[in-house]
Amino acid sequence: MARCIACHQADGGGIPVICPPLANSPRMAGPSDDLIRILLLGMKGAIVRNGSTFNGIMPSWRFDLTDGQIADVINDLYARWSPGAPPVTGEMVRRIRDETATQKLFPTEKDLRLSE
Ligand code: HEC
Repeated sequence: MARCIACHQADGGGIPVICPPLANSPRMAGPSDDLIRILLLGMKGAIVRNGSTFNGIMPSWRFDLTDGQIADVINDLYARWSPGAPPVTGEMVRRIRDETATQKLFPTEKDLRLSE
């Protein structure tokens, strides 16, 4: 989480205009595959959360974090903001790492075609 708080803040509240909140993000209740994809690829482009538009760049963690570390980060997000969500495993991350191996980094929300 040390890597996330600079932007998303310790309370998950984000930074106005630049960085969206993680607390109350619709992602917390959505499929974990979407969160895994965002962490592996990063994302950019305007998104609307809680009625505000955010337009920044989310780094890709593909080259910095192992499958197990990405799973740990997501499980930590769940513990804070989506208690009871089924845990993510390193295996799940590895499958999506392979699937996204040739995808461009920093897709927009539309490119990610995230399920909502
Ligand atoms: C350099 C700043 C920065 C860092 C560090 C960062 N993020 Fe982000 N994150 C962003 C920005 C900016 C966006 C929104 C991108 C956009 O506007 O398309 C975002 C989006 C997200 C989203 C999607 C939120 C939504 O509602 O769709 C998740 C989940 C997320 N980040 C998790 C993390 C996690 C977990 C970490 C730590 C491993 C992290 N971020 C580190 C800047 C950052």
